[in-house]
Amino acid sequence: MINLPRGTQDILPGESEKWQYVESKFNEWCRRFNYQEIRTPIFEHTELFQRGVGDTTDIVQKEMYTFDDRGNRSLTLRPEGTASVVRAFVQHKLHGAANQPQKLFYSGPMFRYERPQQGRMRQFVQFGIEALGSVDPAIDAEVIGLAISFYQSFGLKSLRLVLNSLGDQVSREHHREALVKHFMPHKDELCSDCQSRLEKNPLRVLDCKKDKDHPAMASAPKILDYLSEASELYFDRLKTHLDAMGIPYVVDPNLVRGLDYYNHTAFEIMSDAEGFGSITTLSGGGRYNGLVEDLGGPSTPGIGFALSVERLLMALDAEGIHLPIAQGLDCYVVSIGEKSELKAVELVHQMRLAGIQVDKDYLSRKMKAQFKTADRQQAKWVVILGDEEILNKEAMVKNMDNGEQTAVKLDQLISYIKERL
Ligand code: HAM
Repeated sequence: MINLPRGTQDILPGESEKWQYVESKFNEWCRRFNYQEIRTPIFEHTELFQRGVGDTTDIVQKEMYTFDDRGNRSLTLRPEGTASVVRAFVQHKLHGAANQPQKLFYSGPMFRYERPQQGRMRQFVQFGIEALGSVDPAIDAEVIGLAISFYQSFGLKSLRLVLNSLGDQVSREHHREALVKHFMPHKDELCSDCQSRLEKNPLRVLDCKKDKDHPAMASAPKILDYLSEASELYFDRLKTHLDAMGIPYVVDPNLVRGLDYYNHTAFEIMSDAEGFGSITTLSGGGRYNGLVEDLGGPSTPGIGFALSVERLLMALDAEGIHLPIAQGLDCYVVSIGEKSELKAVELVHQMRLAGIQVDKDYLSRKMKAQFKTADRQQAKWVVILGDEEILNKEAMVKNMDNGEQTAVKLDQLISYIKERL
């Protein structure tokens, strides 16, 4: 027997309906907020993520599924969606499109070689949105608003929006200097990754999983104390917008995201539900002014977020929320005898063409067993075809809710059932 690879999962019937449900709900929320779908490839040139996500991130350094194809090109299974969306935005010159900002959404599998645990998979499914072309804090608030509304629409209650600003370039340079000054005396106590991060990208030290309990972490300089006037104003305006929309948040100056492209707004939505598990982040996002330029496009600001379906479903479980997934067939056709079997095949096909969800027996089961199946499949109606019924050009139709049986002419059967569904 060959099992599936570690960190992946099969989604079987019974479970897959939930995935379909949450995906169509996400599409619906994106439609309401006027985001349009973009689909990009599952693999990209490795360089895209090195430049986009950032060379010093854990994702690029340790977690990418990278391989050479048969033409010796280095390709990578996408670890996230933003870099691909920005690449497509540049490649197809969407900055020149009539409707601006470009508001895009996507969904699909992402791949990270992480240590699997509950809520952390090597293949996981992200839903995300990206708004490109606006620096209005109203669009930051809109992105956050979509994320929160989507979760709330399931009835989730234990949600916490955590907000930070990572500032503009000037703010970041001042913060960077302060970080280097702060951590240098402890350099030897930090892990080897952090030692090199300290030189290349000291902000990443704050995101280290190994050194997170080092005493110097708690006392590290906070970006919020280094914000330029413009960055502070931007952050204040974002908060004003969220207040206006009635969206509560907490500011956490320690929130640094795991990807390098962020500036200004950074946020995560956490679940505080009991039993959710040790990973509490449901989704995250932020602003990435500069990324479009880094990937060869004209200077264009952007903001977005992504969530994973795995963690969304975990949150629903933790809060005991059941999705309203339709169960049960519209109809099951029971046939007794050879002639009626052929008639059943014909009828079932016609019913399906007419939009009725219907099934029949394929295992030559006896009538009683066919009824059992109809029961198990929670059919609302059962149509019984016997040789005698066929002679009379009719069928018995049983309402499974109340057990009533009625003889219905075959040529009126479809409309009889459709009217009653
Ligand atoms: P991220 O924080 O790396 O951001 O991932 C976003 C979300 O994906 C996380 O909050 C989590 O729900 C989910 N996720 C990440 N890794 C895993 C995993 N191994 N297993 C299960 N779920 C996972 C991004 O990916 C950015 N592209 C978000 C963004 C969009 N920023 C701006 N635009």
